Amino acid sequence: MARLLVVHHTTSPALQELLEAALDGARAPETGGVEVVTRPALTATAVDVLGADAVLLGTPANIGYMSGALKHFFDTVYYPCLTDTTGLAYGVYVHGNNDTTGAVRAVESIAAGLSWVAARPAVSVIGAPGAADREACWDLGALCAYAAAQRSP
Ligand SMILES: Cc1cc2nc3c(=O)[nH]c(=O)nc-3n(C[C@H](O)[C@H](O)[C@H](O)COP(=O)(O)O)c2cc1C
Repeated sequence: MARLLVVHHTTSPALQELLEAALDGARAPETGGVEVVTRPALTATAVDVLGADAVLLGTPANIGYMSGALKHFFDTVYYPCLTDTTGLAYGVYVHGNNDTTGAVRAVESIAAGLSWVAARPAVSVIGAPGAADREACWDLGALCAYAAAQRSP
């Protein structure tokens, strides 16, 4: 069965809302029955990534960058995964209270270094999540799950 790895740093109710919306999308029956594995960013390993058919990332914006926890994840997996995860589909949502630009750019830059391919543009949410934000995260989760199913039919 195809596997979607969800690596998230969830530090507040707003981020929990976005995570739950993304997981609901990933687990929607129409995505084709993908196994969804969730890992807090500080616990995710290269083995998790190597066993995944797509990756969904979630982080707050912190001082113009991704969270230290998600950066630690990338630092941990970058070289162990560099050769074997080329073309892996990924998605990312970022939550902030004023400006997520730097955090999105940082994630996209490292993902490009890994030769991962975005399943859809990053979802950026400012302030209290609304229905449209939850829907965007749902779509993100569903598209990442669909991409996982395509990689491992
Ligand atoms: C140290 C620190 C730095 C932050 N830097 C940013 C930032 O650069 N851009 C931004 O939009 N939000 C920033 N935030 C806000 C967080 O992204 C936000 O607190 C987090 O997503 C959780 O959302 P909440 O505060 O609504 O619960 C920062 C928060 C902290 C604690």
